[in-house]
Amino acid sequence: MCGISGIAGFKNIGIPLLDSIRHLEYRGYDSCGIAILGSHGIEVRKNIGSVDEVNERERLSEPDGKLGIAHTRWATHGGVTKENTHPHLSCKGDFALVHNGIISNYQELKKELTREGHKFHSETDTEVIVHLVEKYFKSSKDSVRQAHDAVEKAFIKAIKRLEGTYAVAMVTIYEKDKIFCAKKESPLVIGIGGDTNYIGSDFNAFIDYTKNAVVLDDDEYAVVSKDRYFIKNTANGETVRKKITEIHWDSDMAKKGGYPHYMLKEIYEQPQCVINALQVDKLLIKKISDMIIESKKTYLIGVGTTYYVSLIGEYQFSSVAGIFTPAISSDEFKNLAHIDKNTLVIALSQSGETYDTLNALKYAKNKGAKTAAIVNVMGSSIARLADYTILQGSGPEICVISTKAALSQMIILLMAAIEIAVRNKKLTVKNKTEIERHISHLPEIIQRVLNEKSGFIHTIAQKYSHINNWLYLGRGKYYPIALESSLKMKEVAYVHAEGMPAGFLKHGTIALIDENLYSIMFMPPKSDEDLYRLSSGSAEEIKARKGFIIGFHFGDKRESEKLFNEEIVLPKVPDIIAPFLELVVAQLFAYFTAVALKRNIDKPRSLAKSVTVA
Ligand code: AGP
Ligand code: GLU
Repeated sequence: MCGISGIAGFKNIGIPLLDSIRHLEYRGYDSCGIAILGSHGIEVRKNIGSVDEVNERERLSEPDGKLGIAHTRWATHGGVTKENTHPHLSCKGDFALVHNGIISNYQELKKELTREGHKFHSETDTEVIVHLVEKYFKSSKDSVRQAHDAVEKAFIKAIKRLEGTYAVAMVTIYEKDKIFCAKKESPLVIGIGGDTNYIGSDFNAFIDYTKNAVVLDDDEYAVVSKDRYFIKNTANGETVRKKITEIHWDSDMAKKGGYPHYMLKEIYEQPQCVINALQVDKLLIKKISDMIIESKKTYLIGVGTTYYVSLIGEYQFSSVAGIFTPAISSDEFKNLAHIDKNTLVIALSQSGETYDTLNALKYAKNKGAKTAAIVNVMGSSIARLADYTILQGSGPEICVISTKAALSQMIILLMAAIEIAVRNKKLTVKNKTEIERHISHLPEIIQRVLNEKSGFIHTIAQKYSHINNWLYLGRGKYYPIALESSLKMKEVAYVHAEGMPAGFLKHGTIALIDENLYSIMFMPPKSDEDLYRLSSGSAEEIKARKGFIIGFHFGDKRESEKLFNEEIVLPKVPDIIAPFLELVVAQLFAYFTAVALKRNIDKPRSLAKSVTVA
């Protein structure tokens, strides 16, 4: 997730352009840059660091010009370096471009363009786009090149070659008053300001200048000048007419995309994060799978949420790939793990800075283990320390409570489990394709659940917000989901919620059950017959003792009516994606409980986003 902005105006736009990326910094803050079109061509200024740091060194607003684009980066492809910072230039410096998203076919495009003589200056996926536009522009006949829409044609030709996700903005010396932009699955809006028009990843880019905006939809592109703009459909070139939206938010609201809290915004970003996780380069997944196969023993480590992600991974590797990869909480790692040079340790961390995980990884490395990491922050300590790192590309997670980063890591671990399963002959290639097809539907199913169920979940959460003690129960892979869900409740609502395997309940905790103890049962779909039967059995045990149960389940209503006092019914989905949906529901349940209790949602008491102490 990066921040894009652009301004087409009638006077020098350096200062408002700088201002706009200051407002977008929450979307990415590892590096930033601007490209301003002046009388001598395009001037690019960029570097690594925060907007203020880069501005101090590069004087970003200094170049003179009436048209420009800017970017704050959250790296997904290529390290945090000046070369990888956007904007990127074409070989001749006649086009400059910024991008938010992931171009999944960039490697083949890069090969093609390199063969044709294009010189690349960065390791990013983004740079292929600007070279593609250059290629198509240069290869058009002279007569075409002189036509008023030659750049537009080359731009669209390039956009049509892209696979993956993008919001793109481009300026060129050939059309001195136009910004070209296009969108697919990454956000882009146009700000209408009378004699100055704007573009941005969101309204923050221009909220101080205009409250009128037009929201681009997927597969649309726009050409924006200071006093006009048009929007067309990328596939058929037809003009799209859109209504102007008036923004009623202040800039804090706008940063949160109109959501009252970052937590809710980030919960709603999960469909996109799953898409990003599914687009992690297959070669990276293959590499981490190779490392697991080649090691005698693999430990998955993390703390708090990432420990629970590790635990989900342990279940996934066991059930899908038939291998045992114990999960250990990083803070206990030294007390438990046995390490030699045939050991692999995979660290999970959103921030990449958590002391306990960093320390465990250092310890493992010193003892000769191979190390790998799945992290969300490029250039973080854990990313740099591990022998091999996968970047999950979930974009900045601002709320202290982790939601979207955790789900994304679970998906990446699942993809590695599937890869290993094929090699272990636990899955045929045909089965693999089938399972991957199921997983590819997850983003739209999550979106549906968010759209259709959040009102009901809100009501239920409010209704039970006075409850002080919860049991969160699940069997199999629903057990780590129960644990992670209970952590959400504790962290954000300050309500006690104890997660445990549903089968463990009868070995002691059951003594607590009476009409005052409330439980949530994370049911599997009925297709998982054994687990369903056993989970129903655990619910019966609670019911028999007058305990109150809310069931999260997949529409097996007739039985469930008898089992649960309250239920949240989810759409019927294949077993492989079912736990993730329940997690999303539990995140919302915790969120709405915290809202009802008027908690400090994005910054709960006593918690910090990354815990860098022992
Ligand atoms: C998550 O909601 C918590 N704030 C916490 O458990 C967190 O997951 C843990 O501290 C690990 O952080 P990391 O992923 O940044 O390493
Ligand atoms: N993939 C681009 C890069 O790494 C853009 C990053 C993003 O938008 O997340 O530079």
